[in-house]
Amino acid sequence: MSDATAMKERQPLLVVKDLKQHFPIDAGLVFKKQVGAIRAVDGISFSVNAGETLGIVGESGCGKSTSIRSIAQLYKPTSGSIVFNGTELTTASEKDLLLARRDIQMIFQDPYASLDPRMTVRSIISEPLVIYNKRGLLDKPMSAIDIETRVEELMERVGLNKAFKNRYPHEFSGGQRQRIGIARALALSPKIILADEPVSALDVSIQAQILNLLTDLQKEMGLTYLFIAHDLAVIEYISTRVAVMYLGKIVELSKAEDLYMKPMHPYTRALLSAAPIPDPKVERTRQRIILSGDVPSPDKERTGCYFYDRCPNKMPWCSCHIPPMFKISEGHECACWLYDSTDHAGQSMEEAEADALASLRAKETAGSDIGAERK
Ligand SMILES: Nc1ncnc2c1ncn2[C@@H]1O[C@H](COP(=O)(O)OP(=O)(O)O)[C@@H](O)[C@H]1O
Ligand code: SF4
Ligand SMILES: [Mg+2]
Repeated sequence: MSDATAMKERQPLLVVKDLKQHFPIDAGLVFKKQVGAIRAVDGISFSVNAGETLGIVGESGCGKSTSIRSIAQLYKPTSGSIVFNGTELTTASEKDLLLARRDIQMIFQDPYASLDPRMTVRSIISEPLVIYNKRGLLDKPMSAIDIETRVEELMERVGLNKAFKNRYPHEFSGGQRQRIGIARALALSPKIILADEPVSALDVSIQAQILNLLTDLQKEMGLTYLFIAHDLAVIEYISTRVAVMYLGKIVELSKAEDLYMKPMHPYTRALLSAAPIPDPKVERTRQRIILSGDVPSPDKERTGCYFYDRCPNKMPWCSCHIPPMFKISEGHECACWLYDSTDHAGQSMEEAEADALASLRAKETAGSDIGAERK
């Protein structure tokens, strides 16, 4: 093994740093002008190790899908860094990007919408192979027979009868269609699969089958998953670690068992308290944290905690200071001022605002000093 290969294997497979994905809001009929931005993803950082599953959970509209679409380079990120297997994707050449896309595949929530209804299952699954083969980007060129054999193998591996390869997506059930989507995602033998709510549209019994298939495939092929869901039970079942997202930010990151045993962020606690528990005795007696209002629109820049409006534990300090990630224990981090070593609870709103203003002025002064030095 070369030094470079050994080094790559020791590093996380995917490292995301301060990733932002802002969508411009334009106004004007003839002369369009940007008047604001939807801050769908507003500075997220995390890494994913080879062979693990990082679950991303959060209510609808928190920026989960946008995050993985930016990682898959379906959007050009506004800023930040995405390093996949040692390659910085945001500045990669077209060829490096194509090679990275071979290793990064996606599975979508609605397999019917993501599969072309005019294509047979055989064409759907073989398409990535045909494209990459034509461009000479496969490790070994494939003949038409090789591709046909690979399609049949993939169909069998995901639990589909290969005799149905000439059928169309509408001839299959929802669960079978998701299996077609998985076979297509596996065609190029990727390293990581970005799964966007892959079981949310399926019946509970079918969900379990697809989750089991995904875990079996992971063990067999050493796959890495970045797995999105809004259902906490699904995330708990599949994940090694979990990131909780709120309004474009990661508010808690931890090993799955720690998150479920010891949720720290008020948002995580509220989410967990709202999830149904199958034991009727526990279900009757437990306390629910009811969050007021909905997730706000991500169209304004925030200067305090993003969860402030809905937080049952908020302090004046939180309204004008964005919390960084505080370390709770090894591998468990939480973006909440409750875990700062300084106690902010006793401060009045006036004191908190004066403090925020003072640190803003200090930053401005430092900025102008640097500017003056450069001149
Ligand atoms: N292409 C886009 N243009 C403008 N706003 C978008 C776009 N895609 C998503 N958004 C907005 O970004 C926010 C996050 O969306 P999304 O990533 O789909 O959240 P989630 O997957 O967590 O439900 C939402 O407010 C959504 O309306
Ligand atoms: S920082 Fe403050 S407002 Fe934000 S979650 Fe923590 S306690 Fe609530
Ligand atoms: Mg989504």
